[in-house]
Amino acid sequence: MNNIGVIFDLDGVIVDTAKYHFLAWKNLADNLGFEFTETHNELLKGVSRVRSLEILLDIGNVKLSEEKKEDLLISKNKDYLGYITKMGPEEILPGASKLLNVLDDLGIAYVLGSASKNAPLILEQVNLFERFAGIVDGNSVSKAKPDPEVFLIGAEKLHLKPENCIVFEDAIAGVEAANIANMISIGIGDAKTLHEADFNFNNLTEIPEDFFTKVISEKILKNNESRLYKTK
Ligand code: BG6
Ligand code: MG
Repeated sequence: MNNIGVIFDLDGVIVDTAKYHFLAWKNLADNLGFEFTETHNELLKGVSRVRSLEILLDIGNVKLSEEKKEDLLISKNKDYLGYITKMGPEEILPGASKLLNVLDDLGIAYVLGSASKNAPLILEQVNLFERFAGIVDGNSVSKAKPDPEVFLIGAEKLHLKPENCIVFEDAIAGVEAANIANMISIGIGDAKTLHEADFNFNNLTEIPEDFFTKVISEKILKNNESRLYKTK
């Protein structure tokens, strides 16, 4: 099936790195003298590193110079790297490897569309780097999700029109980005939080067998028909 392609977010879809981001951000907040909770951490999901720091400093009501912020971004990432360089394939989230196998069997290409500048390293750590037809990460974009840039570059790498791309995302900003890009959005996680997605699953083990061969094909057909109707 080379008429459709898949774009995967990384953190929270393929691997659970949120816990490592949390530990590194919490360490930074501890050093600055304020509390940073797991609930606060939810606000940073899908958000770029720079924006994450701004949100964190707002939580602590801390104002810093640009130079100091640069230093903190470097030390946070150093801390985070300490965790991710210990990751291995056992940290691939349930259902992810099987889903990639299904896509391989169906001949559906997939690329990565992540806000993380560490995405290539993480994929190497869990032995998945070689499997992706392309990588779009935090180094290749100038605008963060919900801007659709990351996914539109992904569509180019797949040589597909946006409406034929399916995005797997765990963050609201990511689902919004996919919708703005005119792609099919699949929300992975809490359906209430990700209610703007076209389809919702708690995790990747829930994707039905006929999802790509039937459900997605029908959805694309329907979308195309309604577009045709609108232009008439
Ligand atoms: C996203 C994560 O995938 O990447 C965010 O959901 C993170 O929490 C962002 O801030 C940037 O990651 P990194 O690895 O470049 O600091
Ligand atoms: Mg994510």
